[in-house]
Amino acid sequence: MLRNSTSVLKKSLKLAQRQPFSTTFIRSTTIKSIPDANDDTATGKYITTVTKPYTVTTYARPNLVITHGKGSHLYDLENRQYLDFYSGIAVTCLGHSNPEITNIINDQAGKLMHCSNLFYNLPAGELANKLVDKTKQSGGLHDAQRVFLCNSGTEANEAALKFARKYGKTISPNKTEIITFENSFHGRSMGALSVTPNPKYQQPFAPLIPGVQVATPEDINSVANLISKEKTCAVIIEPVQGEGGVTPISAEFLLQLRKLCSDNDVLLIYDEIQCGLGRTGKLWAHSYLPKEAHPDIVTIAKALGNGFPIGATMITEKVENALQVGDHGTTYGGNPLGSRIGSYVVDTISDDKFLEDVQHKSDLFVAGLNKIAEKYPENIDTVKGKGLLLGLQFNSSLDSGKVVAKCRENGLLVITAGMNVLRIVPALNIPEDVIAEGLAIIDASISQVLAD
Ligand SMILES: Cc1ncc(COP(=O)(O)O)c(C=O)c1O
Repeated sequence: MLRNSTSVLKKSLKLAQRQPFSTTFIRSTTIKSIPDANDDTATGKYITTVTKPYTVTTYARPNLVITHGKGSHLYDLENRQYLDFYSGIAVTCLGHSNPEITNIINDQAGKLMHCSNLFYNLPAGELANKLVDKTKQSGGLHDAQRVFLCNSGTEANEAALKFARKYGKTISPNKTEIITFENSFHGRSMGALSVTPNPKYQQPFAPLIPGVQVATPEDINSVANLISKEKTCAVIIEPVQGEGGVTPISAEFLLQLRKLCSDNDVLLIYDEIQCGLGRTGKLWAHSYLPKEAHPDIVTIAKALGNGFPIGATMITEKVENALQVGDHGTTYGGNPLGSRIGSYVVDTISDDKFLEDVQHKSDLFVAGLNKIAEKYPENIDTVKGKGLLLGLQFNSSLDSGKVVAKCRENGLLVITAGMNVLRIVPALNIPEDVIAEGLAIIDASISQVLAD
């Protein structure tokens, strides 16, 4: 098995190296059907002999091996080209193989990639500074002050939950409870999973951390009934729920939530891991809100590294005052390589012109998606989301999973979200012609699924 899998791996790698960067666009009139590779192809052989038997079972994946990407296009082992409407789940915000980022990686890798947190390094300080400054300039967290750098969204949330527990304990030993919301997603580690109230994710790993309560978005009474000055230390919420169904939370609700938190001396955590960093057309989803609705902690990841794993937890001085040396730590967090990339991403995305362009592209998407929704009124309830975190809400007559599979066959990679939503989270710099081509593929794919 080992020898066989090694030779398949070598062949697959050679095949991947030979692949040219095709520039052919898939036009709406020439949508080519490209079914997933079968087990006899190089892809099938690679999956069945090299990767699947040696990989821990986590994801259900189609027969598709992605070998490289350029901008908003991806290429696979069979040399097929796909349009990318999911950007690695809201990660590659500046496109695949971004040349500036490649240069930064080359340059920094030749200087210093890692030196641990036992010493300071230059890029980490610069990134922390930049996140705080640009956040304030963007109308986000007005009293942002400090940043903890880590390696993923889950870790950013773990840090936020630990900081909140520590803050609560400075007031009372029992102030440890956390309120989260239905349909939210905050990660898969024991802490982050405990505030992700999805039975499918939680049940196999119960018991989780105690003292977590679940409220209903847009229902302030559901929070008021749970919150307590004596027991609650934090409320965590995504200003736009991503995995749960691409649902923006209203400014009115967030204002009420902030007030309730302040009245009870409870920290408010905004998880902007998916909806932050330009995704909604401003630097942060909460940059749209008045400062009376700002949180105490913002968690950040995904787009921050454009594919390099990095996360961050941004806090106010009030939260910082509860922390001391030794409370939290990480080996890789704030490494110079990730931090240099993060600085470039923050600089690029916080530019007003860049954000105007995100809004313009969002308008193009929304106009196109509305047309699709009007064409299939029996099957599509609504277009939802904000900026370039968008969704088509299907009703029970149309399965979002089937549409995703049909889009893939037609050369477009797009994903689902909870509640039967087709989720669109492209690169923030996606070209306009790719938007038009991808929308045409969604339209054709829906009609094919309905005809099947
Ligand atoms: C809102 C939100 N929070 C947290 C996470 C977890 O982030 P990561 O997968 O980087 O650990 C995700 C991932 O999808 C997310 O969308």
